[in-house]
Amino acid sequence: MTRPPGLPMTVPAPDLPARVRIHEVGARDGLQNEKATVPTQVKADFVRRLADAGLTTIEATSFVHPKWVPQLADAEDLFDLVKGALPGIHLPVLVPNGRGLDRALALGADRVAVFASATESFAKANLNRTVDESLAVFDPVVRRAKEAGAHVRGYVSMCFGDPWEGPVPLHQVARVCTALRDMGCDELSLGDTIGVATPGHVRALLTLLNEEGVPTDALGVHFHDTYGQALANTYAALEHGVSTVDASAGGLGGCPYAKSATGNLATEDLVWMLHGLGIETGVDLDRLTATSVWMAAHLDRPSPSRTVRALSPALSHQEQ
Ligand code: HMG
Ligand code: MG
Repeated sequence: MTRPPGLPMTVPAPDLPARVRIHEVGARDGLQNEKATVPTQVKADFVRRLADAGLTTIEATSFVHPKWVPQLADAEDLFDLVKGALPGIHLPVLVPNGRGLDRALALGADRVAVFASATESFAKANLNRTVDESLAVFDPVVRRAKEAGAHVRGYVSMCFGDPWEGPVPLHQVARVCTALRDMGCDELSLGDTIGVATPGHVRALLTLLNEEGVPTDALGVHFHDTYGQALANTYAALEHGVSTVDASAGGLGGCPYAKSATGNLATEDLVWMLHGLGIETGVDLDRLTATSVWMAAHLDRPSPSRTVRALSPALSHQEQ
């Protein structure tokens, strides 16, 4: 049987969420590591095209120190371009401290994310603080953001392994997660920053977090695909009931402060699996793929996403 391009055959599996909210991180996690400066207008077009493809939560940028992440030094200009232009689309931004929150709130951001680490090494490399020092910085940031009516996400990096420290004990991750929840974070995103997780490990962490009082509906997962495990890990999280999944269009990404991090789970690969399972995403896979092909041309290298590679020849006759 031949199938139209862009559509897997739908065969649902029992007991999975009916709908998944994709938290698209391509414009932030995807671009933060690029060497060549991507023009602000191209980034704005990228965000707009992602919204046109049906993504409704699109992480736009980071209000971090421009010397630490030069690629996102245009955060103000970019956010200004996209904020008013995309009504109904959530545009969360990363804030590392009070200064970052001030910058975000001044532009009308209503979704912010703080980003903690489960390990000391990455806290130091990424935030120039110990884990506890960074939690102490986040506490008033989360409180002020909530007072301003913002939704607050708390990232936790290195949940499954750390390039300097190796394996990360589950209780160490749980401690940081519960601290962020106690501050008032609405949701947590469990980061496999260097992509070393495997499905049993994912299940074990989710189970422990539930035991520690963090409900599954407050949890999202954030997998990088270094060892090709991101989809298997996502499936384990879906089986556990998680329905918020981070992904990056075209599999863009990496982290400037974790050299072994490769791209995030590609949104197209995720959508292919979810649609095959009959799980709603609201995403038009062809439009999304065309957007990643378009972005790959701007970055001058092909997308690593298997789904983008498989679908793009069929799209080549369409405008990209
Ligand atoms: P620091 O050098 O310790 O900062 O950096 P400081 O507090 O000592 O301040 C030094 C100067 O920076 C001061 O200026 C501040 O005003 C200024 P001066 O008084 O000297 O003129 N400053 C700022 N300027 C603009 N915006 C700000 C800001 N903060 C201070 N927000 C800092 C500490 C947190 C700022 C720095 O380490 C930083 O910006 N880090 C960001 C690193 C980053 O963005 N990493 C990537 C995101 S995390 C990630 O990718 C993982 C994730 O995807 C999940 C996963 O995969 O695991 C989320
Ligand atoms: Mg990441």
